[in-house]
Amino acid sequence: MTKQDSHFINVFGIVLGILIAVAIVIFGVARAVGNSTQRQHVQQEDLYVKSVEARVAPPVRVAVAGSDNSALMIEAPTASAAPAMPVPADGAALYDAACHTCHGPGIAGAPKFGDKAAWAPRIAQGDATLYKHAIEGFTGQHGVMPAKGGRVDLPDDLIKAGVDYMIGHSR
Ligand code: HEC
Repeated sequence: MTKQDSHFINVFGIVLGILIAVAIVIFGVARAVGNSTQRQHVQQEDLYVKSVEARVAPPVRVAVAGSDNSALMIEAPTASAAPAMPVPADGAALYDAACHTCHGPGIAGAPKFGDKAAWAPRIAQGDATLYKHAIEGFTGQHGVMPAKGGRVDLPDDLIKAGVDYMIGHSR
């Protein structure tokens, strides 16, 4: 080993030692600072607390006769949980809400609103057939008319009003 080699090893060793010492000091300082706050923060963290509660909660809860079991009551889903779609007031409103999607632009083979030529042969079938097809759904040569235009929650009479509105503007 030459003189330069041993000199290099000495310097390298010292530099390495200093870096390790600095790293240890920084680690120590970080621990000291973190110690007072970290654990507390983690344990008060809402999600953490919830997940612990969920994990330590008993898997089943048993109603005991003669004691207060109100905490076990299963709440019926309220109407507000799944708000029903608003019910259109009349045929025109129904058309805007449920029929326009297809019959407006005439997509998917739907006879276009106001297109007299497309509606004439359909109107010729008579109102009863049109009502039936609109209410129950109908697959023709052009496409699929879904039952009630997809709004099966609506009353038949409203659908009929929608049909009246549509054919009224298309004859
Ligand atoms: C998803 C698209 C779509 C929606 C929404 C839709 N329709 Fe249709 N409708 C069609 C298609 C397609 C046809 C034509 C089917 C065929 O003749 O092949 C049709 C046909 C009709 C017919 C003619 C039936 C016949 O016997 O010729 C009526 C009446 C009708 N729709 C009423 C309505 C009403 C009322 C609404 C709203 C409540 C509505 N449609 C919503 C696609 C739709």
